Amino acid sequence: MDLTEPSTRISVIGAGHVGLVTGACLAQAGHIVTMVENDSARLAGLRQSPPNVPIYEPGLQQLVEHLCLEAPERFRFTDSIREVVADSEAAFICVGTPQGETGEANLFYVERVATEIAEALVASGREHFVVIEKSTVPVRTGEAVRRTMERVLRRHGKDELPFEVVSNPEFLAEGTALRDFMSPDRIVVGVESTSGAEMMRRIYEPIIKSNADGKSEPEILITDVQSAELIKHASNSFLALRISFINAVANICERAGADIREVARGMGLDPRIGPHFLKAGVGFGGYCFPKDVAAFYHISKELGYPFELLKNVLEINEGQRILVIDKLRSALWNLKGKTIAIWGLAFKPNTEDMRGAPALDIIHLLQQEGALIVAYDPAVTNVIAEAVELKDSALAAAEGADAIVLVTEWKEFAELSDESLKSIATAMAYPVFIDGRNLLEPERMRNLGFEYHGIGVRRNT
Ligand code: UGA
Repeated sequence: MDLTEPSTRISVIGAGHVGLVTGACLAQAGHIVTMVENDSARLAGLRQSPPNVPIYEPGLQQLVEHLCLEAPERFRFTDSIREVVADSEAAFICVGTPQGETGEANLFYVERVATEIAEALVASGREHFVVIEKSTVPVRTGEAVRRTMERVLRRHGKDELPFEVVSNPEFLAEGTALRDFMSPDRIVVGVESTSGAEMMRRIYEPIIKSNADGKSEPEILITDVQSAELIKHASNSFLALRISFINAVANICERAGADIREVARGMGLDPRIGPHFLKAGVGFGGYCFPKDVAAFYHISKELGYPFELLKNVLEINEGQRILVIDKLRSALWNLKGKTIAIWGLAFKPNTEDMRGAPALDIIHLLQQEGALIVAYDPAVTNVIAEAVELKDSALAAAEGADAIVLVTEWKEFAELSDESLKSIATAMAYPVFIDGRNLLEPERMRNLGFEYHGIGVRRNT
């Protein structure tokens, strides 16, 4: 990283997943970053030595520790927005935008932060401050942030204080967030003026130039605020659409005697389609896709163009969870009193994040049927739902079970030897195996003694 680049004094508001990755990476890139966190326990943990990073993201604990130790002047924590705004040129808003009751994004925290920033501008008299939306927000939030801030300034007779609102959506996937930030495919920036664009270029310059992964320079797309906001929701919804599309095709494969793995491969070989996000299974989960698709649908209705396709994306996704129950029913008949072993709880491998995890929906549906649940996950070690017995290995979970449902495609499951799988099949009451991610080879599993069912996988392979 070239630290000779002129550094910018930046505040990052919200030390959650996005905020910590953003703040730590920008400090590592040479900027002077102050993180603002209003949860006192979280703040105390981050301030202790060594700091306690409260989220699981590969490399983040080490990076935060490194910065706190080696570059404390470039990376620090506070709870005061007022203090940091007085002392910085720009603030990234990285607070949560949780899902509201009817699918809309709850923007309460964004509004509160915008108000506090405006109050801090009044107190400090700072001009040309740049407020950057990093949290995922629906289109036109930037306008609402501007209106909110202007109202505060007006109330204090400071209407003339110029400031800029910028949208700079994040494209971080859990598990690869540091790499995604330091070596991005694209940087999207929605601005109101050329000075906003210049500020954003200055902030991202060291990252663009460092070429961390040896990739070609990422494109920095400078556009208007509304377009940038839409790029985020449209991108996540499009990826979710691909997953629901392939899952719907998988369901047709099952009825037609085709195999989704081959169909997806054949489709993906067309460069216009590409191979990514075409893995059929129990559907998408996580903190982003379900929430963002619902929020995008909600805002489309509000804007007078109900984007019904998105509703269908969510419905197909829900259907994939029910599909697992149907498969179990046809293999085991009644599920009441049957023991089902869940392999994998986290919403995807290499994380312990259970938010929006398909496993939670499947467990809930099974419990409604009166099934007993045992579970094993290589990373999730806390009880995740009522009456779920957590085991400490794949074998321990399978012992005496009437069926296994593989929900998360952990490498550990893919690497089980024939011998281990054979003893697992023998240890079960009945060796039904529902492979919710098409991770294991059907023929191999059947030869090892399982009654194997994949998702959209040909029965006689
Ligand atoms: C996602 C996006 O990939 C990021 O680009 C985005 O920045 C992020 O949301 C966000 O908005 O913050 P993430 O939720 O971490 O990242 O996880 P993904 O790796 O995208 O997986 C999402 C879900 O889709 C998982 O449940 C995964 O199992 C499922 N999936 C993915 C499939 O079912 N099939 C596939 O082919 C691919």
